[in-house]
Amino acid sequence: MFANPPEGLSLDLLDRDRLPQHLSIIMDGNGRWAQARGLERGAGHAAGVDTLRETITACVRLGIPTLSAYAFSTENWRRPQHEVNLLMHLFATTLVNELPLFHQENVRLEFLGDLEDLPEETRAVFQRGLDETADHTGMVLALAVNYGARAEIARAAREIAQEAVACEDWSGEVSEELVAEHLYTRGLPDVDLLVRTSGEMRLSNYLLWQCAYAEFYVTDTLWPDFDRWELLRALIAYQGRDRRFGGVKVDG
Ligand code: FPP
Repeated sequence: MFANPPEGLSLDLLDRDRLPQHLSIIMDGNGRWAQARGLERGAGHAAGVDTLRETITACVRLGIPTLSAYAFSTENWRRPQHEVNLLMHLFATTLVNELPLFHQENVRLEFLGDLEDLPEETRAVFQRGLDETADHTGMVLALAVNYGARAEIARAAREIAQEAVACEDWSGEVSEELVAEHLYTRGLPDVDLLVRTSGEMRLSNYLLWQCAYAEFYVTDTLWPDFDRWELLRALIAYQGRDRRFGGVKVDG
């Protein structure tokens, strides 16, 4: 799928041994993409699904172990009701349509966020996706739906407090590992590369804890136009970064 690259780009520019272990994407710009074409916003979301499918396939081909994507934030409920309904239905139909791909590519599905508040149709299909891919051993695809990072951290604190109250000999220690175990992302590596489309330079309440040392890559391209070549550009840019994790670079 990386044959015939655009001028100046080549898969050979990518070091396959230094891929991000966790690539995360804030998929932004569906509405603007549709408006620019005189289409309803829903057409932008539908085109965004095609981009997500291409991105999933490209990440599997490249061997990226974890891909996560921000599909719906806790703040997105404020959108007009008809767009919320459309998105919830789109999430359900997308998941059903893409299940064969997840089986074929051995992709294991996870969800980040509180699924309790989702409409029954969406929740049931998500549960089906979780059940059917639970024993897959390939790439993890973590979809953030009804997700907010502050709510996630508050929820982790609440759970730890409840465990502490129930524990007779609690040491009083709250380690970073303990917090991480109570996040939706438990078991997943921290984000190495965070890509945001449509030029917005905001984190928008997304994976605040997990992005502590993430490299950010922002492109003006709107999500429906983000293709495998854009992905390759982002990965090459990531490999050009000097990651020090707060330390200093040691040569040698
Ligand atoms: C942001 O564009 C995009 C979204 C709110 C939805 C993205 C969701 C998908 C592509 C499908 C995900 C599939 C599953 C199964 C969860 P925007 O509407 O904020 O664009 P704008 O900023 O231009 O208005």
